[in-house]
Amino acid sequence: MNDDDERFNGPELIVTEDGSHSLYLSAMKETYHSFHGALQESEHVFIRSGLEYFSVQSDVSPIRILEIGFGTGLNALLSAIWAAEEGRNLFMDSIEAYPLPLDLANQLNYPKLIGKETSQPWFDKMHENPWNKQISIHSSFSLKKVDNKLQVQRLSLETYHIVFFDAFAPNKQSELWEREVLARVFQSQAPGGVFVTYCAKGQLKRDLKEIGYRVETLPGPPGKKEMVRGIKK
Ligand SMILES: C[S@@+](CC[C@H](N)C(=O)[O-])C[C@H]1O[C@@H](n2cnc3c(N)ncnc32)[C@H](O)[C@@H]1O
Repeated sequence: MNDDDERFNGPELIVTEDGSHSLYLSAMKETYHSFHGALQESEHVFIRSGLEYFSVQSDVSPIRILEIGFGTGLNALLSAIWAAEEGRNLFMDSIEAYPLPLDLANQLNYPKLIGKETSQPWFDKMHENPWNKQISIHSSFSLKKVDNKLQVQRLSLETYHIVFFDAFAPNKQSELWEREVLARVFQSQAPGGVFVTYCAKGQLKRDLKEIGYRVETLPGPPGKKEMVRGIKK
């Protein structure tokens, strides 16, 4: 999947306030993560408020995750580590319209910062392995990176227990936050499924409610007041 949308050209490596890397798109004036800390944000929003929250309520196996925006692979790496530590099986499908060049992904400092022996080989495998194929990263974590735009990607119905909605902010990329797109994501979730995002805009909360989620506003990661979690009733 490739097009020539200039907003996504030439991401530059930056260091956020917790020492972890992120990327900056100058044409869009947008970062891939919170400037206050990429690693802290991912752990708080996606792992603790999404994955951990769901996992204590359900022993389903495998837990199926849909991620919107594979990007740097940070959420996938943290999920793989979580799966190994918790002894739970995870399948993740992660959609990405603008895959990063491998030489840029190789510079990201997440495995080093996390400091676990297995982080680097797992992270390398995630980035080096082919797109559009389900690959086992380790015995309890499989990843399928899907090289496509969310707006045109077919999503299986009632499948995903958790959605990591990690698109660029609505004021930068409104097309991914349209109600019709969110409604398709809702349809892809299993009953009781959990939707998490770092965004806490009023319009998003109204749209999620109207689509059928029970919506919770939670404390945000360091430096951000709030985040949103939706539960498919
Ligand atoms: C906020 S970044 C987060 C990425 C990732 N979760 C991470 O931790 O690095 C948003 C991601 O969405 C991707 N993206 C942009 N437009 C998209 C689209 N139409 N469909 C799917 N992904 C898209 C971007 O290229 C980027 O990687």
